[in-house]
Amino acid sequence: MQLWICPILAFLLGSIPFGLIIARMKGIDIRAHGSGNIGATNVLRIVGKKYGITCLFLDLLKGYIPMVIAINLIQIDGKAIVPHLGFLDSLAMELPASEQFKGQLVHVVTALCAILGHNYSPWVGFKGGKGIATSAGVVLGLMPFAVILLIAVWGLLFLITRYVSVASIGAAAALPVLTHVGARFHKNDAGVSLWEADTWNKPLFFFSVVIAALAIWKHRTNIRRLMDGTEHRFTPKSKA
Ligand code: G3P
Repeated sequence: MQLWICPILAFLLGSIPFGLIIARMKGIDIRAHGSGNIGATNVLRIVGKKYGITCLFLDLLKGYIPMVIAINLIQIDGKAIVPHLGFLDSLAMELPASEQFKGQLVHVVTALCAILGHNYSPWVGFKGGKGIATSAGVVLGLMPFAVILLIAVWGLLFLITRYVSVASIGAAAALPVLTHVGARFHKNDAGVSLWEADTWNKPLFFFSVVIAALAIWKHRTNIRRLMDGTEHRFTPKSKA
């Protein structure tokens, strides 16, 4: 049961269009303004700083919470770097070393479902957002050290270009390499990396390639605007 519940829950949580809801509370249909995206960048651009930051935080949680639940419910050898949810103990299953692949697969499918829920939310006609904050949330659950590297890449690209889209596309493209590097720090009690052996062949690597490709695909209108020289540089709404 746990194997199915995690991806379904992840998709449902991921599908909550927080950007749309936050903007609507201010009487704005975010889809008709700025880039038209329902993500935190556009909310920040159109509605204001505190709304954009709230949206970023909530979109990130949509990815992180399902991962915390999945990692608590389907435990694979070693220590998970997520909070322990004691109330889930009675439902938790611990997979033997021989079945770790299955556990890792459920974790990454859960992660993918959270992102797909956000990107193709049924509540907004399967259009949704671009998945950057939600992807950061799932990677935070799966591989916290990779997130530190991701933030560094994102921040550097943003400081150099002042384009959020360039920073997001660059961080997404770097994800497969960063998860490989981050995996080396994600160790179990015996000090063995949970993903290190054959990392390139593990579900995590394929997952990181899929979500990177998905993020870049979702930025195709930004890429077109960048090529046309019409992409918006980052300018937050001055007053929230
Ligand atoms: O995470 C989305 C960001 O990279 C681009 O957002 O609104 O400029 O299309 P936006």
